[in-house]
Amino acid sequence: MGTQRYLVTAALPYSNGRLHVGHVAGAYLPADTYVRYLRATGADVCFICGSDDNGVAALKTAREQDRTVEELTGHFNASQQADFSGLGIEFDTYGGTHQPGFVDTHEKFSQELFLKIHDKGFFTKRTGKQLYDVKAEQFLPDRFVKGKCPNCGSDKAFGDQCEDCGRAVDQIALIDPVSVLTETTPELRETVHWYLRLDRLQERLSGWLASKKDADAAGALWRPTVLNQSLGRIEAEGLPERAMTRDLTWGVPVPLDDADAEGKSLYVWFDAPIGYVSFTAVHCDRLGEGEQAADRWWKDPDCKIVHFIGEDNIVFHAITWPAMLLASHDSDSVQGEKGEYQLPHNVVSNSFLNIKFPGKEEEKISKSRGTAVWIEEYLERFDPDPLRYYLTAVAPENARTAFDIDEFIARNNGELVNAFGNFFNRTMTFAHKYFDGKVPPAGDRAPEDAEQIKRRGEVLASTAAAFEKCQFKAGLGEVMGLARAGNGYFDVTKPFLSRKTDMAACGWAINVCLQTARTLTTAIAPFLPFTADKCAKMLNLGEDWRSWTSGTDELADGHPLGEPEILVKKLDAKELFDEK
Ligand code: 2FM
Ligand code: ZN
Repeated sequence: MGTQRYLVTAALPYSNGRLHVGHVAGAYLPADTYVRYLRATGADVCFICGSDDNGVAALKTAREQDRTVEELTGHFNASQQADFSGLGIEFDTYGGTHQPGFVDTHEKFSQELFLKIHDKGFFTKRTGKQLYDVKAEQFLPDRFVKGKCPNCGSDKAFGDQCEDCGRAVDQIALIDPVSVLTETTPELRETVHWYLRLDRLQERLSGWLASKKDADAAGALWRPTVLNQSLGRIEAEGLPERAMTRDLTWGVPVPLDDADAEGKSLYVWFDAPIGYVSFTAVHCDRLGEGEQAADRWWKDPDCKIVHFIGEDNIVFHAITWPAMLLASHDSDSVQGEKGEYQLPHNVVSNSFLNIKFPGKEEEKISKSRGTAVWIEEYLERFDPDPLRYYLTAVAPENARTAFDIDEFIARNNGELVNAFGNFFNRTMTFAHKYFDGKVPPAGDRAPEDAEQIKRRGEVLASTAAAFEKCQFKAGLGEVMGLARAGNGYFDVTKPFLSRKTDMAACGWAINVCLQTARTLTTAIAPFLPFTADKCAKMLNLGEDWRSWTSGTDELADGHPLGEPEILVKKLDAKELFDEK
């Protein structure tokens, strides 16, 4: 078998605002960590993201801020890219569904898929009722209408979803609807749309999802939240047809030669996931392979497609998107034959992250209430790795967790600095002070030395096992366990005493510590890439130190080390997270 290929995506963020820690913890950091691990195993990975520019979200913000939607989405596409890159989240290509350089390919791929599904007979053209703003002379798709939630009664419901209970809302069911554009009460008018026949795909979809419950059969471990929410939705309500077009001109035009299609665009949730594919096509084209080379990633059963998303995206990625792909198939195969769009190997979703400011109750992250930690502001003052560390350590992998400012500081100072940083620091200090900055001879290893050496391989294996299951929090725990074990070994073997009485024994212990540091460098790299780079420099490692199998390599006797430097800094967060 050749090299395993993976196409990894992270949910396309709406380009109408800045990114906060909740976004990063939800999809982007776990995706980047996973990709770094996969690459360390030698896998061939394509990592794709970009902005979700179409639809009502950006239009509405542009209107509120009195700027053009092109300018707004261009601005946030760039600022979000800067945030990601500042955190070391490195996509192979960062596109945008309406960004120059991407929009044409994106329209082409979106329209092609729409037409393919249309040809296969999975759309019904139907006249339905929609809310219409008489004053603005336009229909009010999705978030252009607000009202009371028919499910929970909250007044924070929009024509697509309720902000409070998170459930999808049919705009016609909204209680006391009001137009966001003019604050007037809209009226119901008839309009034509194309509805995806999810009802006809339901059986195959639920069979496919049910097969993911069996991790061995699925070849991947699906998180229970993803399966419960998607299968639960199908069991509770069945899958009704869903309109995949909108009365909007901002988006991908409906590619039908039909007077009813005029002035209409594809629903943003139809075109957004196709962005994963169209950005891959641009990526391949820029590599000189041509857009068609995207098939190598998307239409080949040998490539594993993994989507990283937040919990509010589950239904779209585990039901609607697979339904679209399935509807495009010529074969009866649910997964898709070679040459057909493949269904995802895994859909990895995190829950939301709440926030807890010092002296306050835990609360939801909210832009309007100002209860967020913005990436841009964080990066102005702090290094990326402490945030990567904390957001992985408290990742909302199976349930909501909170970004607790006090805990962020405490864990940085208590764990990263005290356990990880301190282990490197004391090891490097000894090697430089007493062994001329070179790896001292290993000598004949006593049982406790051999045990610590063996532990390195065990931790690499258990961390890898956690990665394979997308359990990043557990993986990080394994690596930190090795750092603690390193400190424990240092304390027990006491090189600080033997250096006065038995220099050879002191060297044997420092040798084991350096070998442990060597392993830690590879093992921590997917989580904390900047820190790992510093470790590699300090240990003066050769090129391939990120490769997972190199993690158990031993530094040779006499190997010259690099200069010691401070790995992680103690933090005082007051300057950023003050009472405001
Ligand atoms: O929830 C969101 O932020 C959406 N913009 C995610 C889209 S993911 C994908 F389908 F493109
Ligand atoms: Zn609600």
